[in-house]
Amino acid sequence: MKLQIQFQALLLFVGVLVNSVGAYIGVNIGTDVTNLPPPVEIVAILRAHQITHVRLFDSDARILNALSATGIQVHVSVTNQEVLGIGESTSAAATWISKNIAAYLPSTNITAISVGSEVLTSLPNAAPILFSAMSNLHKALVASNLNDRVKISTPFAMDVIPNPFPPSTANFNSTFNTTIFQILQFLKNTKSFYTVNAYPYYEYVKSNGIFPLEYALFKPLSSVKQIVDPNTLFHYDNMYDALIDAVYNSIAALNFSGIPVVVTETGWPWFGGATEPDATLGNAETYINNLIRRVANESGPPSQRSFPIHTYIYELFNEDKRGGDVSERSWGLVFANGSTVYDLSLSDGSEDDVNGSVSVFCIARQGAEESGLRDGINWACGPGRANCGPVQEGRACYMPDTLQNHASFAYNDYYQKMRGAGGTCDFGGTAVITSVDPSYGSCRFTGSSNSSTSGPFPSPAFGPVGPSSGSSRNVDIFRFGILFAVNALLYLLGVNTRDIL
Ligand SMILES: *[C@@H]1O[C@H](CO)[C@@H](O)[C@H](O)[C@H]1NC(C)=O
Ligand SMILES: *[C@@H]1O[C@H](CO)[C@@H](O)[C@H](O)[C@H]1NC(C)=O
Ligand SMILES: *[C@@H]1O[C@H](CO)[C@@H](O)[C@H](O)[C@H]1NC(C)=O
Ligand SMILES: *[C@@H]1O[C@H](CO)[C@@H](O)[C@H](O)[C@H]1NC(C)=O
Ligand SMILES: *[C@@H]1O[C@H](CO)[C@@H](O)[C@H](O)[C@H]1NC(C)=O
Ligand SMILES: *[C@@H]1O[C@H](CO)[C@@H](O)[C@H](O)[C@H]1NC(C)=O
Ligand SMILES: *[C@@H]1O[C@H](CO)[C@@H](O)[C@H](O)[C@H]1NC(C)=O
Ligand SMILES: *[C@@H]1O[C@H](CO)[C@@H](O)[C@H](O)[C@H]1NC(C)=O
Repeated sequence: MKLQIQFQALLLFVGVLVNSVGAYIGVNIGTDVTNLPPPVEIVAILRAHQITHVRLFDSDARILNALSATGIQVHVSVTNQEVLGIGESTSAAATWISKNIAAYLPSTNITAISVGSEVLTSLPNAAPILFSAMSNLHKALVASNLNDRVKISTPFAMDVIPNPFPPSTANFNSTFNTTIFQILQFLKNTKSFYTVNAYPYYEYVKSNGIFPLEYALFKPLSSVKQIVDPNTLFHYDNMYDALIDAVYNSIAALNFSGIPVVVTETGWPWFGGATEPDATLGNAETYINNLIRRVANESGPPSQRSFPIHTYIYELFNEDKRGGDVSERSWGLVFANGSTVYDLSLSDGSEDDVNGSVSVFCIARQGAEESGLRDGINWACGPGRANCGPVQEGRACYMPDTLQNHASFAYNDYYQKMRGAGGTCDFGGTAVITSVDPSYGSCRFTGSSNSSTSGPFPSPAFGPVGPSSGSSRNVDIFRFGILFAVNALLYLLGVNTRDIL
């Protein structure tokens, strides 16, 4: 028995060491927002926070266009309304692919398609058609020779697994066996991945105090609350890992393996109504930062250490137009002006605060007509009431003495002051938004953070996280091994290390 434990622990180490694929953190962009910034500003916000992966709930043409040539990887969605038509007609599927995918590639790097959202649980009557919708879309991708770069999946709710705890005994609700079996076969054959919306927030609220809040928030658990799966002896120090393993085990119960699990949505609301006491700024900040740290460590959950848990956070902005509970409208990471709602940082980093406002600048467009620029400057410095002092002769921003430079300064000053009140960056089409601080020398553009070390933007909180250095990694693996072995031993000795499972 003891030998067996050591063997399992060894396998675990090997799993962690073998994995060297970067794990990514992406962000969902919902658009049910009253003052949704224009797509070009959304992209500036993404860049400012170094977000490299986004997911859309539809295939919004304006956002897809704005994402072109940004290098950002894009996961788009077929809406639940569209699933039926696509499932019933191969030509509808082909049209959808050509209009929403082929039209943007390669300049907008679309890499995946979510077919519907939580269809089995939220739209049960569409369940029979879900698989054929996925299959029709795949055929259309093959016909366009895009099947290698674009993967198809369908996000499931955690609810398709009625009892996720303990993970080792998790199974899909057998009502869905046939559909899920077909879909798993499809995912396997097309080298795609299983997608799940996994919300420890809801699992925690639903559990009515069975699970400690710390468990949902990835906080350290006191020894009496350690959670060990009685069948595998795997130690689960956070709910996220347990949920992902519940998915892997459910898949394994249908005899499939080697299908990675990607989390298409997770998050924590930072504000809620009177009956939602756990939707707080502090909990959201803790959850998201610990989540980023967890994903960045690159290892998968205990049963699948070699599959990193790629994750999309729900979501970029508060969707204030959504109905339902107050918390439904409070999942955003940033305000429309790009400021983060709470501190976001990578765990290891000391200087990773990104709570500062995101700098977006308005400058004159390269190649704009001289007459347009002249009109623009006259308007900005006149009725627009921009501060045009710094572009006067002898002042810091006078040189280079060009219309382009002077217009940029005036436009930006106007824009920074008036954007909160609806001022736009247009000036008869002679202006564009940029995320690059145009300041130079002693000429500081309005809104510049003037940071000499990290440039105009706060440091990154997102993006692929390179493999950590060998040494610190090995230390952590070693620590994990000890923890694992001690817990397993305590368990075998009958010491009650788990008061939950
Ligand atoms: C698009 O994303 C893929 C990852 O799926 C990456 O390998 C490729 O380099 C990206 N292409 C561009 C043009 O950024
Ligand atoms: C399984 O799904 C069906 C159909 O949605 C539902 O009626 C049933 O309650 C579910 N079973 C469990 C155990 O949750
Ligand atoms: C569904 O699959 C599970 C796991 O293989 C199995 O235990 C169960 O009997 C199946 N249910 C049905 C209705 O086929
Ligand atoms: C999975 O494989 C085992 C062993 O081959 C078999 O007994 C079981 O019925 C299979 N389960 C399903 C759901 O196919
Ligand atoms: C972030 O917030 C902290 C405290 O709330 C503050 O000390 C720090 O200056 C802020 N950072 C930026 C870049 O604004
Ligand atoms: C950004 O908007 C939020 C919410 O409206 C506000 O609280 C914050 O002060 C704004 N930040 C800046 C730098 O304007
Ligand atoms: C910008 O920063 C430099 C030093 O990094 C400082 O000398 C200068 O006064 C700052 N300018 C403004 C406008 O704050
Ligand atoms: C990664 O996270 C898991 C789950 O929290 C943890 O058990 C493991 O020790 C971590 N591994 C490293 C190398 O930090």
